[in-house]
Amino acid sequence: GSSAPLRVLICDEMNPGQLEFPGFEIEYEGNLPREETLRRLPEFDALITRSRTKVDRELIDAAGPRLKVIGRGGVGVDNIDLEYASLRGLLVLNAPESNNVSAAELAVMHLMAAARGLTVSDAKTRAGVWDRKFLGLELKDRTLGIIGLGRIGSMVADRAQGLRMKVVAYDPYVPDSKFERLGVERAATLDDLLARVDAVTVHTPLTDETRGMLGRAELAKLKKGAIAVNAARGGIIDEEALVEALESGHLFAAGVDVFVHEPPTPDHVFLRAPNLGITAHLGANTVEAQERVGAEIVGRVLAALHGDVSRGA
Ligand code: MLT
Repeated sequence: GSSAPLRVLICDEMNPGQLEFPGFEIEYEGNLPREETLRRLPEFDALITRSRTKVDRELIDAAGPRLKVIGRGGVGVDNIDLEYASLRGLLVLNAPESNNVSAAELAVMHLMAAARGLTVSDAKTRAGVWDRKFLGLELKDRTLGIIGLGRIGSMVADRAQGLRMKVVAYDPYVPDSKFERLGVERAATLDDLLARVDAVTVHTPLTDETRGMLGRAELAKLKKGAIAVNAARGGIIDEEALVEALESGHLFAAGVDVFVHEPPTPDHVFLRAPNLGITAHLGANTVEAQERVGAEIVGRVLAALHGDVSRGA
């Protein structure tokens, strides 16, 4: 009817797409400073973020009673205090599918870059050193170990098979039927996977179970000369342990898209390792993924708010 519009604040960088919907007022602020988000939040029915904004107790308390829905423009909800949000009766939604292809492609990019020494060769060539002695590794017939065979892990498996790699995965939450359908071998345990693979890539959410899942002891179980990739969440592969394994020569090379603390400080341990390819949490940053993510999360949030209104809540 003639009731006031429902208001949605988007406080992180994304492509929100269409913003005009009858009954709604959507405000897009690509990079809203945290203080501003906290100050303005009480005027909104929903907040949409990416991983930059920490939806913690402080933010939820600042919101006040009007806020009903928190939308995460992406997959991982580790930036949100889910327990506190649910205690406050907030509905938390994500966009679980829109950026999966982009994330998988970035992981494969890191795998290939590591195998061929991209970062070292790039740095040397720019410095005027023409080094053609470096020998990389061919991926064909090597074994890729995937930890977490969910949506993104499955896409990585498919692409690695396209490179004629053999794929083994460890994921206690996925049934045998899915492994069979994907033509992926199941590793019964994490140790079993680590012992068998030439490269490992992680595709799990960040939880208490996965934080530090690949630490010093686990990396030591990889074959000498293996490759490690983390395009999931900072800290699933322990940061110090990864750099030590690169520096000792146990690992051939590695690639990371994520840090425990983002952005990293200039003295971050990763910046010490030349054979570590680094990107700035860009897994979801493609033109295509951001178009889909914006549309998906705005659509889900509006539908939830709409349902809330029709239920008379
Ligand atoms: C995700 O979890 O989908 C990514 O972190 C997306 C993002 O970059 O916001």
